[in-house]
Amino acid sequence: MWILGIDTSCDDTGVGLVRDGAVVVNRVASQTLLHQRYGGVVPELASREHIQLIDGLVQQALDEAGLKAADLDLIAATRGPGLIGALLVGYTYGKGLAFALGRPFVPVHHLEGHIYAALAEHPEVEPPFLALIASGGHTHLFEVPAWGTYRLLGATLDDAAGEAFDKAARLLGLGYPGGPEIERLAGQGDPGKVPLAAPLQGQEGFAFSFSGLKTAVARALEKGYAPADIAARFQQVAVGHIVQVVTRAARHTGLSTVLVTGGVAQNTPLKAQLQAAGLRLMFPPRGLATDNGAMIALAAWRTHTRNLHNPMALPAAAYLPL
Ligand code: KG4
Ligand code: ZN
Repeated sequence: MWILGIDTSCDDTGVGLVRDGAVVVNRVASQTLLHQRYGGVVPELASREHIQLIDGLVQQALDEAGLKAADLDLIAATRGPGLIGALLVGYTYGKGLAFALGRPFVPVHHLEGHIYAALAEHPEVEPPFLALIASGGHTHLFEVPAWGTYRLLGATLDDAAGEAFDKAARLLGLGYPGGPEIERLAGQGDPGKVPLAAPLQGQEGFAFSFSGLKTAVARALEKGYAPADIAARFQQVAVGHIVQVVTRAARHTGLSTVLVTGGVAQNTPLKAQLQAAGLRLMFPPRGLATDNGAMIALAAWRTHTRNLHNPMALPAAAYLPL
């Protein structure tokens, strides 16, 4: 069974082809260069770029797999959450293609896509497990007691984790996306030199907060601390905060298997510290951690038997709880 998956939820145009649950093609046209000079994603520019790219990218993906559109058995696209204008491009394209080919259409929740991406190399994993999704747009910690059931334990109260890395990087005069830049600069700094408090100390729950950290970075810069030392301290505190919440959730639920996904999952100290906490970790394979279309096809492969009533009638949604 061939499934085409499309994701245009933010600034990447993602198209993937999955055959019987295995990723065959994963093409992502990144818009990073387009948004770089604004220091973040400009929604209107993202939508316009998706429109330019989507059809060509689907053709390229089909060519790469040696397929024609008529060989597709099912079309899936991200329904939400995301930037509504951006979402609409891929979602409407997917519906149109499904309608034209007379194939079923499967709307996919973006976060469910991230979760199934992390399971791509671990098909043997069964719930219950914890799922941490930390990207430029989301910081969510779910308890997954059974397939298709997602209990939100906590989310960010303000900025997403990746957004915090991006904003701190911008303050430090680094490029976008900020995560890899901060990680690189932090390697040259001494975190012990900069006083920067950890967020939400004393909380018992599973919420995250990153906006105070961003302000603290601005203060530290004003006070004349070296950018490398600030980057090192910022990363130490941000990563420590995530690790603290995840380990608390693991203790609370008694679950030690944690699936970690989203762009921030690429952070090396984060991986190392979660590992050191004795958790059994699952990361998506390379290329599937950040936004992509293959993860949407993977989620559709796992969920298409849910038999949604009239999926074509479901609208795209910027805000969509899982
Ligand atoms: O999953 P993703 O592509 O989704 C969004 O577009 O939101 O994640 C991108 C985010 C960016 O905010 C980026 O700064 C962050 O993930 N990121 C990192 C690292 N690599 C990417 N954050 C921390 N450390 C990294 N190594
Ligand atoms: Zn995402």
